Amino acid sequence: MINPHGSDKLNPLFVMDAGEREALANEAKSLPAITVCSAAAANAVMLGSGYFNPLTGYMNLADSLAVAEKMKTANGLFFPVPVVNVVPDASAIQGAKQIALKDPNVDGNPIIAVMTVEAIEEATDDQMKFMTEKIYRTDDMDHPGVNAFNTVGKTFISGPIKVLNFSYFETEFPETFRTAWQIREEIAELGWEKVVAFQTRNPMHRAHEELCRMAYNALNADGILIHMLLGKLKKGDIPADVRDAAIRKMAELYFPPKTVAITGYGYDMLYAGPREAVLHALFRQNCGCTHLIVGRDHAGVGDYYGGFDAQTIFDEEVPAGAMEIEIFKADHTAWSKKRGEVIMMRDAPDHTKDDWVFLSGTKVREMLAAGQSLPVEFSRPEVAAILMKYYQGEANK
Ligand code: ADX
Repeated sequence: MINPHGSDKLNPLFVMDAGEREALANEAKSLPAITVCSAAAANAVMLGSGYFNPLTGYMNLADSLAVAEKMKTANGLFFPVPVVNVVPDASAIQGAKQIALKDPNVDGNPIIAVMTVEAIEEATDDQMKFMTEKIYRTDDMDHPGVNAFNTVGKTFISGPIKVLNFSYFETEFPETFRTAWQIREEIAELGWEKVVAFQTRNPMHRAHEELCRMAYNALNADGILIHMLLGKLKKGDIPADVRDAAIRKMAELYFPPKTVAITGYGYDMLYAGPREAVLHALFRQNCGCTHLIVGRDHAGVGDYYGGFDAQTIFDEEVPAGAMEIEIFKADHTAWSKKRGEVIMMRDAPDHTKDDWVFLSGTKVREMLAAGQSLPVEFSRPEVAAILMKYYQGEANK
């Protein structure tokens, strides 16, 4: 199986031994504690799960600046985005060597990790702006990722961590949440060598489904890992439980058994487009996948990124050999009325706009909320039914 990023063996920061974990959890109760932001808690989940291999904890300011600028830590480790624990005020833990990190996303704020504090540093406004512009390619506070990064404070607490649990992800999504080592085990059990990963934060419509099938066939892969984001999203995105049900139904009905594994990971969406695509590739390598599908406007939002910026970054900015995983670049994909199937636009140079079935996200939401069926060229009826139920119920509350 493909090696993890930066080491021969995956080194997740979750305390594997149950006895050790319980002892550390008890010890942590008497440590100075701080409630972290949602992004830092999700970083702990990702560090604990092995997806951020080979990091040993949260980056300091120098590493964060270097990673933001050139995707490399001060020591030269390739990494696409800073992995940080930023707070508005660190006075509660001032002078402490060991601290407990409390989870903002679970009732009662239980301790999610224990951290050895190596540095507490305050970023300047200029440094925050520099990092923001490098990571997100904009500093517009209307961008949801920019907003999240710039409203949690400027105090960087860095150092190694030991992770005690996986927040709400393992309790709310027991069927779907998987750590990187669990996925490696699953891939090994299935006997897959060539594995193509599909990142998604959406229910899978026909284009998504066909992208997976096209990549699977073109690469002659052994399996497809559908790997969905289970963390926080912006308003209007479909909640993970609804999306999970829709994806499971689609895979069950339209893919042969044992060709698709449906899994999820505990992370909040950054909407960082190109940089997030590189991050997505890195953590799919860590879970044992050989390829990642990157299509149109991967991890994008609004009009902040060009349709294929998340592909060109791999050619223009990721140094050769920085990662082992390969990218399957997909063009804009949709139903062709002329051909009567879903295809990539680059494969139909003779088509005009009217030859395709396009529906914007807004149009889809409007139709479902009004109880109108989605065209079968756009969405499988079984998938559309699950979404319609959601839009007519909870989504309108
Ligand atoms: S993402 O934020 O997780 O990237 P989404 O779930 O919409 O969003 O997309 C998952 C993957 O499918 C991404 O690689 C994206 O580029 C690709 N994709 C989605 N729709 C299309 C489409 N119509 N044509 C080509 N690629 C697409």
